[in-house]
Formats: sequence, C-alpha cells, structure tokens
Amino acid sequence: MISVVTTKVEVLGLLPIAGRTAVVPTMGALHRGHAALIEGARDAVGSQGRVIVTVFVNPTQFGEGEDFERYPRTLESDLRMAESAGADVVWAPTTDEVYDTDGVAAAITVDPGPLGTQLEGASRPGHFAGVLTVVAKLLLVTRADVAYFGEKDYQQLTLIRAMATALDLPVEIVGLPTVRDDDGLALSSRNRYLSAEQRVLASRIPTAMESGTRAATHGAEAVIDAVTAALDDPGLDIDYIEVRDTDLSPAPPFGAARLLLAVRVGDTRLIDNVAITLGGAS
Ligand code: PAJ
Repeated sequence: MISVVTTKVEVLGLLPIAGRTAVVPTMGALHRGHAALIEGARDAVGSQGRVIVTVFVNPTQFGEGEDFERYPRTLESDLRMAESAGADVVWAPTTDEVYDTDGVAAAITVDPGPLGTQLEGASRPGHFAGVLTVVAKLLLVTRADVAYFGEKDYQQLTLIRAMATALDLPVEIVGLPTVRDDDGLALSSRNRYLSAEQRVLASRIPTAMESGTRAATHGAEAVIDAVTAALDDPGLDIDYIEVRDTDLSPAPPFGAARLLLAVRVGDTRLIDNVAITLGGAS
C-alpha cells in the first residue's frame, strides 16, 4: 500500500532504508508522462530504494492572472496512478506546510539568473524563482539521492540541473523524454482545459515541430519559418518559437540544438520542445 503523508515531520520521520531515495516532484493531475518518471525512478532505485512522489500546486510559480485557482486537483486518482507506477510514498503538503517560514527567511528564494528571464521566463516573470525554490525545498526535505524530471519542461529541467550544480545539492538530476498522445501532442495536465475543437487545433503543434525538424538542415531561421507557417491559424496565438543550443545558450550554426515553443489555444498556454540537428544541407 502506498503511504500518504502531509507534513515535513512525517517525511523526515520515514524509516531508514537500505537503498537510495528517488523523488518525483509534481503538481498532481498525474498522467502517463508523470507515470513514466515514477517508473524510471523505481527502476533506478530498485526494491531496496524508496520512491517519493510530491504533489503540490506551488503558488509561487504562478503569476497574476494565471491558472493557479483552476489548476486541476485530483489527489484520489493521483494516489492510484502513483501507486500503480511504483511509488512508495506520496507527499501532498499544504501551502502553509511548505512555506512555514516568516520574517527574513520568508523572503529568501533561489535566483535563476539570466536564463530565468528568457523563453518561459519572459512571459512568466518570477516563475522560475518559484520553481527552483520549491524544488530545492522538496528535494532537501525528502533527502533525495536522485530526482526525476521531464524534458517536456526543458527550460525547467535545464535550470534545475544548473541549480543542483550551483548550490552543490547532493542529488542526481535525471531527465526523461516527453510522453505524447497518439497524435503527438505532449501530455500535459493543462490539456484537460481544451475543448474538443481546441484539442484538434493543438495537434498542429507536434506537426509543426516535425516541419521544423525537417527544415533544420537549412538552419535555425528555416526552422522558425517552417514552424511559424505550420501554426498559422486564427485559433493559435504564438508566444514564442525559438531555436537554442542544447544548454539553452544561443543556437550554434550547426549540430545539436533544441526547438522550443509556447502557443496559446484560447485561454490555455501549451509548451513543447524537441531535439533538432542544424545544418548539413547541400
Ligand atoms: P508538473 O507540471 O506536474 O510536472 C511534473 C514533472 O512531470 C515535470 O518534471 C514535468 O516536466 C514532467 N512532465 C510533464 N508532462 C510530461 C510529459 N508529457 N512527459 C514527460 N514528463 C512530463 O513541472 C512541474 O509540475 C512543477 O514545475 C514542479 C517541478 C513540480 C515544481 O512545482
């Protein structure tokens, strides 16, 4: 049976184990993408290890006018999904439990640096300070040896890796590939906001990324042009389409790179990204 805990004291009081602790931080509304992370975590630590899934809709990473209030909260089905994917423990704290500091301590956060204001950070000021701060806290309270994140949120994964390096966090950060629906749309807790009509429109995102991938032999500009053309529809509002190096520094002229985009479909903001190889056209 999976055990469900809410307080930090309960997490700190989990019995010692022989193996390693793997942690999968989530905001709940679990889907097959989250399940893949939990399964990866279980495989990594084996039966001697412990897999902890955190379920916490972190208010500090949502901006004014974003979807914090309407974000789906589905703890009962999350527990079933976490258990069947191989988790031992779900930690589902309240906001007061996570942010139980006041005074000077309440104002201390992790600064994501310049990358925190680009791509997602340009549209969502303060988002990555919120993400990095809560991830640091979740990993430290759970005393994670290894933590699993999805490439779906590629900039988040990049920044979390960088934070672990910068702060000497004693945790290995593992990134796993994006899990997609049959038509290629990346699974996301936010997909459930889409109407049937919007869901059809959203399926143009993976198609557009394929066009971009094919255009990559002609360079980064060709990629952006191809993706922009493929997403040209009054129902799709492009936030950004960018090509970057794999570490999210400026794109190289050729070789391994990353295509990243954010698109609004109605009120729903969807993000995706894919590995591409620039250059090589004759
Ligand atoms: P959430 O959106 O719930 O995602 C939790 C983890 O699942 C993240 O590492 C995310 O990249 C991964 N994930 C989401 N969709 C995926 C998919 N289709 N395939 C593979 N992995 C996928 O990301 C967050 O929560 C929060 O920012 C968090 C890190 C928990 C901090 O609050």
